Amino acid sequence: MQQVNLADDIYYLGFNDRRTNLFENIWPIPHGISYSSYLIVDEKIAVIDTVERSFIDDYLDRIEDIIGDRKVDYLIINHMEPDHSGALKAFIQKYPDVILVGNKKTFGFVEAYYMTPKNVLLVHDNHKLELGKHTLQFQMIPMVHWPETMVTFEETNKILFSGDAFGSYGTLDGGIFDDEINLDFYEVEVMRYFTNIVGKYCPHTQRAIKKLAPLDIKMIAATHGPVWRSNLNWILTRYNKWSSYDLDRGVVIVYGSMYGNTQKMAEIIARRIAERGIKNIRVYDASKTHTSYIINDIFKYKGFIVGSAAYNNSLFPNVEILLSTIEHMAPKNHLLGIFGNYSWNGGGVKNLKTFAEKIKWEVVHEPVEEKGALKPNNKEELLKLADAMADKLLEMPKPE
Ligand code: FEO
Repeated sequence: MQQVNLADDIYYLGFNDRRTNLFENIWPIPHGISYSSYLIVDEKIAVIDTVERSFIDDYLDRIEDIIGDRKVDYLIINHMEPDHSGALKAFIQKYPDVILVGNKKTFGFVEAYYMTPKNVLLVHDNHKLELGKHTLQFQMIPMVHWPETMVTFEETNKILFSGDAFGSYGTLDGGIFDDEINLDFYEVEVMRYFTNIVGKYCPHTQRAIKKLAPLDIKMIAATHGPVWRSNLNWILTRYNKWSSYDLDRGVVIVYGSMYGNTQKMAEIIARRIAERGIKNIRVYDASKTHTSYIINDIFKYKGFIVGSAAYNNSLFPNVEILLSTIEHMAPKNHLLGIFGNYSWNGGGVKNLKTFAEKIKWEVVHEPVEEKGALKPNNKEELLKLADAMADKLLEMPKPE
């Protein structure tokens, strides 16, 4: 691949993964993902993060193509998750005198995942590392999204090497910088990456945004997705909105249905809410659409209505997976509606009520539970549930 520079002597070392189906073996990535590392060549040479292990050989070759027989002096570890530390052992074998730069949490993970580190430089907030013309500054952003996560700010060109923060699913198909690509494509992929990977840690993300605000950032180079140099506001405003649970007027309706009765209940609710003037309505069959996409829309819209058929005295399994993900990520500020089908011994609505108690969202109406096919009295209750949700959504000051 052609050399790509972020600035003089600062190189992009990224790779596209179009083979992996599930990121972290959980999240679908139909458009792939990229892993980005960066190289700064100065009196001292520094590399910031590595790449996923399947790219080790090409990665080390690419570094050698640029620096020849010089040695890398510092390997800065912003984040230890193996999609970025996967080349660490091979890197140290090739450059045995390299100094690993990290914080007090980093080296414990190096030991746990790979080896006892030999040469280390322990850094803390505002710590500076002089490379020659380039000065690096470090800031800790714990739990965005691991305990050791930190960022590296290159002061000369004002580039923020941000780790996973501001990253994205989706490969970089030729275009690497934000002004070389159509950002419409990345709209969903950036948000899915945020909600799936970082979404549990919104308060930590908010703290990180505030902490980094005083830096005069001209470019953001994350470990996944585009390098942001022309549209910093595009990514920063979105991260700020999502991590502060600033929700839009709209509703996500999810159901788990075996024979179609619970699905019919969902359709009735959706139609009534539409009649009331709400335009953002997303209805999902939990068996068809992966949680990755549903959770994404839950981070987008204020309303959430969930229906479950009883299945072996419990929740419909795919609804249960979704609800455990929601409980785990615990997004805030939502309105909740519940419905379901009793079948022969219940278990759907009963467990949805337990979910409601745990998640503590505002429940807009009494749960509606049918037994088998939908009857007129429960159809009326569904319409009331839909009206109650629509009433609340229409109180929101924001237009759609
Ligand atoms: Fe991209 Fe948290 O690793």
